[in-house]
Amino acid sequence: MKNFSIKKLDKSFNIELTNIASDKSISHRCAMFSLFSDKTSHIKNFLLAEDTLNTLSIVKKLGAKIEKDESYIKITPPSILRETNDILDCGNSGTAIRLFCGLLCSLDGAFILTGDKYLRARPMKRVANPLRNIGALIDGIEFGNKAPLFIRGQKDLKPFIYHSKVNSAQVKSAMILAALKANGISKYKEDELTRDHSERMLKGMGVDIFTDNEGFINIKPIKKPLKPLKITVPADPSSAFFFALAAAIIKDSKVLIKNVSLNPTRIEAYKVLQKMGVIVNFKEKENIYEPIGDIEVINNELNAVEVKDNISWLIDELPALGIAMSFAKGTSKVSNAKELRVKESDRIKSLVQNLEKCGIRYKEYEDGYEISGGTMKKATINSHGDHRIAMSFAIAGLKSGMDIEDIDCILTSFPNFKDILDTLYK
Ligand code: S3P
Repeated sequence: MKNFSIKKLDKSFNIELTNIASDKSISHRCAMFSLFSDKTSHIKNFLLAEDTLNTLSIVKKLGAKIEKDESYIKITPPSILRETNDILDCGNSGTAIRLFCGLLCSLDGAFILTGDKYLRARPMKRVANPLRNIGALIDGIEFGNKAPLFIRGQKDLKPFIYHSKVNSAQVKSAMILAALKANGISKYKEDELTRDHSERMLKGMGVDIFTDNEGFINIKPIKKPLKPLKITVPADPSSAFFFALAAAIIKDSKVLIKNVSLNPTRIEAYKVLQKMGVIVNFKEKENIYEPIGDIEVINNELNAVEVKDNISWLIDELPALGIAMSFAKGTSKVSNAKELRVKESDRIKSLVQNLEKCGIRYKEYEDGYEISGGTMKKATINSHGDHRIAMSFAIAGLKSGMDIEDIDCILTSFPNFKDILDTLYK
């Protein structure tokens, strides 16, 4: 439970960032999806942070051989994925536990999935119920809704037609992974397109997966092993966003973020900054599985904004956007964002309670908040064990100084965050 003190930054900065943490969502999927091949997957720039290392260690416990050399992590799957008497610990990661539910529920054997105290408090019914409906055997505490989860793999999963009420890439991906082993073609629909890394990567590995005219993702089960992955994981746009925020609030500053995922479902927060007045330029350079390129963010005056659409495209960046809103002229409003309440922390509460300590005026709603821009003062911030809350307020500290309690959570996604932050003072 370490704390850190952020000093006020008395100058502007102009930096180029080539060392942002690799994409967390893609790294989790690289480790898991490599299990569907019979050959070695080569993954460059795999995210070496707590969440994704936990996923890698689960993949190893399931029988995969993991080798690391200077440039790649190589994952060779076992000929048969086997049960293990180890408990599969997903740490803090909702993505890991929910996607593993979909992956494990069709295997031969029994599995126990668990996580840290924050993950064990998060709802699992959203994946467990639709999986149960197709024949999966998943149990857990609190009537099967919370981890630890117990899964007994079932051979005969039924194909499904499922329209999800929750816009969640984790639920979608869990269902897609189960569909790969079902007895026929499955169809999945969501009201808002959530991040689509699973669809893009599995398609690249040879899965017959496409979205039809009615918006259903059609998934054909796999009869033979998939092609292995050969991928360079781009920088994580959600991690990079903290430094975009820094440029947005520090006068005359500029940041160029290199080789970052430009997947449209991941860069909406940059577009909100643009709406607020910040200058943002995107430059696509390549497209392997998904678009990758550079994002330039140049400081400009911030104005209030209303955010109510495409919430799943912003879900991880709303805490950082809350800081931008605190420095903007006028009152900003976020609605339709009830999902924030079931993230690594209740992000509505952890954001507004900490803003209050900093002297920022707000109104809290069940599905969002209003934030009136003002002058932030130095305070002692409770991260609630949530990496994105800790990093958002660390960046706010560049303006006013800030003490952040319980910063270990940053290691779940962005181990070199503090090192990059330190370079802004040089
Ligand atoms: C993720 C999906 C999102 C996001 C999380 C990563 C993923 O969660 O918040 O950080 O990799 O699929 P939900 O699907 O629950 O919205």
